Amino acid sequence: MNPPWWQSTTTRRAFVSLAGAAAATAALAPVRSLGAHTRHPAFKDYPFQLGVASGDPAPDGFVIWTRLAPAPLDGGGMSSESLEVRWEVAEDEHFRNGLRRGTTIASAYWGHSVHVEVAGLKPDRWYWYRFFSGGEASPVGRSRTAPTAGAAGSPLRFAFASCQHFETGLFTAYQHMLADDVDLVVHLGDYIYEGPAVKDRVRIHRGPEIKTLEQYRNRYALYKSDPALQAMHAAAPWIVTWDDHEVDNNYAGAISEELKVGQIELLKRRALAYRAFYEHMPLRRAQRPAGPALQLYRQLDWGRLARFLVLDTRQYRTDQPCDDGNKPPCADSLRPDATILGNRQRDWLFKRSAAPGAQWNVLAQQVMMARVDRKSGPEEAFSMDQWPGYEADRRRVLNHFHQAKVRNPVVLTGDIHTNWANELDRTLDGSGPAPVGVEFVGTAISSGGDGTEKPTYLSSLLRENPFVKFHNAERGYVLCNASEAHWQTEYRTVDYVSRPGSPMRTRAKFVVEPGQSRLQAG
Ligand SMILES: [Fe+2]
Repeated sequence: MNPPWWQSTTTRRAFVSLAGAAAATAALAPVRSLGAHTRHPAFKDYPFQLGVASGDPAPDGFVIWTRLAPAPLDGGGMSSESLEVRWEVAEDEHFRNGLRRGTTIASAYWGHSVHVEVAGLKPDRWYWYRFFSGGEASPVGRSRTAPTAGAAGSPLRFAFASCQHFETGLFTAYQHMLADDVDLVVHLGDYIYEGPAVKDRVRIHRGPEIKTLEQYRNRYALYKSDPALQAMHAAAPWIVTWDDHEVDNNYAGAISEELKVGQIELLKRRALAYRAFYEHMPLRRAQRPAGPALQLYRQLDWGRLARFLVLDTRQYRTDQPCDDGNKPPCADSLRPDATILGNRQRDWLFKRSAAPGAQWNVLAQQVMMARVDRKSGPEEAFSMDQWPGYEADRRRVLNHFHQAKVRNPVVLTGDIHTNWANELDRTLDGSGPAPVGVEFVGTAISSGGDGTEKPTYLSSLLRENPFVKFHNAERGYVLCNASEAHWQTEYRTVDYVSRPGSPMRTRAKFVVEPGQSRLQAG
């Protein structure tokens, strides 16, 4: 058996360099034989308690996911054997038309998770899927394919969400999202939170801060025990990325926010966290991790209507400048060699966004790109964890939008548990002649607990930052309707998350016309 990647003879230096870490650990990734496996397992309890999911739609298919876990909150409850799992995909919910079947292996190494890349399907239509193992059947999930490359297709209706702290609120927002009947869900990260159980909250985590593989797995299982989250996964394909809490608060590449935690220690933890993330998400083989490296940035096209460029602003970034937090700009925040994307991802983004083919170039990413001044008056404070902490990269991206004439850039953001609609321009203070893109920041599903519609700082915030066209501090998600003719965004909020049954309301609507990068109320 291969040694764990951190005990290899490769020099420690290689791991400290992130590019080196990716290359070195890819070579050391455990190779598991799928030869011996059990065909007819007997489960102690229902093995599909974590539900089903699908993701990363293409014109000819998507990935379908489940994880066998008869004791989901207690390590899964499976033996160390690999098991055979059967799957079915059909054109109707009764599995009568266009039935396709296959088998796959749920291996113990990957926590008995299953990721099947279904291909050969028809473009731009809905499908239904399910799994079988040991005489048990999974719930039925619904997914859909994207329109053919270059095809007009029908308008796209999708929701984006982020930040679902299990303890601070219920996932009522997902019940309303389900009723919105979307084609697609984009999740921008903080799917789980790593912190310990805290007393007197709406719901309680189990145990201490998660650090081991089993603890990460149990945490995903706890979150996935939520019926509204499971139902939303079963209803439509998801495109997922992560933020920091899937590993540890505000980590930057190999650097922990805690000074006492060294880079090797953080990378070891990151390897376990990335593995558990992959095990619980509907991701393709290309996103299978190797040690502490997981290639999450990727492109997904929705015909000629939208190109999703999914970014990872955590794995490759340099350390937060100015000791993190909200600070006036310091020399480090303006350093040209500081980066939030890393050179490889930035080059990839520039190439893919400049290529023709899509009416809307959608950046699905984590932290706010607009340079929002958090202090009223002549003093300034910017979040050093967000793009303004990496001003050189921020400016490169915005200049690229302009110079490469990127068609209709739309930035989708999560992370800060509040709603924002921002026009993006290339100046430091947002006073430029014309915006070069728009940014929609979506609030949390539950993180932060019950919110407020109009926080006390609202008027000074809007005065200070004229490019911010809307701000709201309630919980919820964002609904987008995209067609060739225009883009519409709706901010959907719940009144409370501390008890069940909140109604849903739309607090604001914006329209973007192609070629304009301006936010119009509508
Ligand atoms: Fe968050």
